[in-house]
Amino acid sequence: MTAQRSRPNFQAIARLAELGDFTTAFALRATCKLRLADYLAEGPRSADELAEATGTHAPSLLRALRALVAKDILAEPSPGRFELTDMGDLLRSDHPLSMRQAFRLYPDVQALSELGYTVRTGEAAFAHLFGEDYFTYLAARPELLDDFRGSQAALTRLELLLISRVYNWSNVGTLVDLGGNDGALMAALASRHPDMRGVLVDLPEAVAEAPKVFAEAGVANRCEIVSGSFFEVPIPTGADVYVIKRVLVGFGDTEAEKLLAAVRAAMGPDSRLLVMEPMVTGDDFGTGTGLDVLMLVLNEGRVRTAEEFSRLLEVAGFTTSRVLEAGLLRIVEAQRG
Ligand SMILES: C[S@@+](CC[C@H](N)C(=O)[O-])C[C@H]1O[C@@H](n2cnc3c(N)ncnc32)[C@H](O)[C@@H]1O
Repeated sequence: MTAQRSRPNFQAIARLAELGDFTTAFALRATCKLRLADYLAEGPRSADELAEATGTHAPSLLRALRALVAKDILAEPSPGRFELTDMGDLLRSDHPLSMRQAFRLYPDVQALSELGYTVRTGEAAFAHLFGEDYFTYLAARPELLDDFRGSQAALTRLELLLISRVYNWSNVGTLVDLGGNDGALMAALASRHPDMRGVLVDLPEAVAEAPKVFAEAGVANRCEIVSGSFFEVPIPTGADVYVIKRVLVGFGDTEAEKLLAAVRAAMGPDSRLLVMEPMVTGDDFGTGTGLDVLMLVLNEGRVRTAEEFSRLLEVAGFTTSRVLEAGLLRIVEAQRG
């Protein structure tokens, strides 16, 4: 300890400074909002050209672009000219796994800025700050809602790769997606499995785009929409599979148990529940901690361990049959106990 004190650890200092830097996230978001990667898709362009194409202030844009060059999101092959790196390429709107809409910061950052409140009180900073819960707040703000929808669809595109690989969907005749947002998952699964029928349940604002999503995927005749809170509307009964994807992470145990009880009541003896959530096991609690803090400040939600999920399911009267690894998510398959 004494030796460390007498010799400054510059590596540790630099790492701390890097971890405390929040500018990259905002530079990334600005880049995505301006669709700069789309303008760079054809090859290198100068900051002046990009500013002209996007109607922005060239000298300021140049500085924001350099912040991204420093993080290898863009490259600057010659002074003032920029091109996409592999990371930057993922920001193109037409990339099959486009992450252009994944970096939504608002209103989450405002709640995170009040993390001190949550740590002091144990209560969600979001409701303290805005006087209403997260989804009620979004519902009244179309632009934020649109950002949210885009970010969920971007994540779903990535998740689908693994979800389709690790789970056999071919024998699923009827699927109910609870909190399925604009139906991106259901549309993708139904279009790959022509005999599958689906019911999407989500809040009215979330499902507003679903008819378009279903029509574009050519599955509108097989996918129904139930608009309303899954705590209030009747959940369709006797489906083969009920999906809850990245929904329980946003809830504390009381609400999570309430949703699970409602699903259990709708399930038949052969129905399966698939809980697909970011999850951590006891020994790798490094991965989900950032999301865990975000969920805490937004709605007293939490990233649970697989064991915590099994307990939650057991309390709600389910028997877990298996847990599958699907990259960002784990899939817990359960049946009525
Ligand atoms: C984090 S998003 C996940 C969306 C989607 N399942 C996915 O994985 O992309 C949580 C979803 O839960 C929905 N949700 C939250 N509270 C709800 C409620 N009371 N009833 C129905 N849906 C709800 C939200 O509208 C949102 O679409």
